[in-house]
Amino acid sequence: MRSYHRAMQTVADDLAIKWEKNPDVDVHGDMTAATLEIIGRAGFSTPMGLLGDHEAAPEGTDEFVAALSRVLAWASESTNDLPIVGPLRAAFAAPGIRRDVNYVRGFVDSIIERRQKDGSAQNNDLLGLMLTTRDPETGQLLPVDNVRDQVLTFLAAGHETTAALLEVALYHLATDPRIGDLIVAEELSGNRVLDYDEVVRLRRIRALINECLRLYPPAPGFFRIARSDQELGGYLVPAGRAVFVLSLAAQRDPAAWGSDAGEFRADRFLNTRLTASSPEFFAPWGTGPRSCIGRQFAIHETTLLIGSVLSQFRLTVNKPFELRLRERATLRPEPFRIVATPRGRA
Ligand code: HEM
Repeated sequence: MRSYHRAMQTVADDLAIKWEKNPDVDVHGDMTAATLEIIGRAGFSTPMGLLGDHEAAPEGTDEFVAALSRVLAWASESTNDLPIVGPLRAAFAAPGIRRDVNYVRGFVDSIIERRQKDGSAQNNDLLGLMLTTRDPETGQLLPVDNVRDQVLTFLAAGHETTAALLEVALYHLATDPRIGDLIVAEELSGNRVLDYDEVVRLRRIRALINECLRLYPPAPGFFRIARSDQELGGYLVPAGRAVFVLSLAAQRDPAAWGSDAGEFRADRFLNTRLTASSPEFFAPWGTGPRSCIGRQFAIHETTLLIGSVLSQFRLTVNKPFELRLRERATLRPEPFRIVATPRGRA
């Protein structure tokens, strides 16, 4: 994670420059941009041109973001389709979705081609490692179309989820600015540039992030398939049957979390170390060997971004409003705006 820190910091800086110029913040747009920039710059040494002034950005990023969002929404909606409706809808949507899939693939292909042409494929970032590391048994490189699909997986799995988490955190910070004031007083003391070790020590922000993940898990659940017949809560789950673990409900269960389970109270995570045997269910990253591979990446980037933003801005809203969520590829807040006033002027 240390090697990604610098690239993440450049995105936090670009965000602050943008907010200094215009305090009326479109949270959805800026968090989409920030999370895609972070994966692009940290994982693939490729500024995406969504934040900051980057001439080196690939062409067509805006269309890439729009096409990727349509593909993810379509994939998510089609998992709920009824037997007859599903194939019909798929048939109507097919040409548009195929065009979008081809567009996002072509966009990533151009990033890879550029790396191969300019000789920087040797870079030790994620993309460089995938392009140059040989299979220890066969000596083969990963086929390029496989590398492209891995890059797309990271871009897709990594940006919507993280943007959703940041949006929930910004909502709570802006609707109750005392939360941010306390974090600044206790942990940030006017720091603008946070180094790697400082980010790791921001325990109040980590608690805030956990509380956001508990009440609003961006991936609201995950599937598991029974390998053998199992009894679960008095029900027989036969071998081969899929079960959806709904973290969203289990993480709000008053029987485990107490009578204030539905309230946003980040302090509950300050002195609690949850383990697998704790009565409280907390699995926003999934569980076991297939749990989220980007977990540490997401924790570091969100802690850094929130820390950087809070040390420079006091966040508020013009008028109180309820957070509304919509279920797409992730459980993500509806777009909303906040006001970011530089702390010196707040
Ligand atoms: C707040 C941010 C994130 C949340 C809440 C989240 C959540 C999850 C969850 C619940 C799963 C399924 C785990 C399971 O089935 O047990 C998952 C899988 C995955 N996530 Fe994340 N994720 C986040 C960020 C990221 C980032 C930043 C990346 C990449 C940079 C990423 C890459 C992946 C990948 C590749 C998988 C599939 C892993 C596998 O099947 O082995 N995620 N994530």
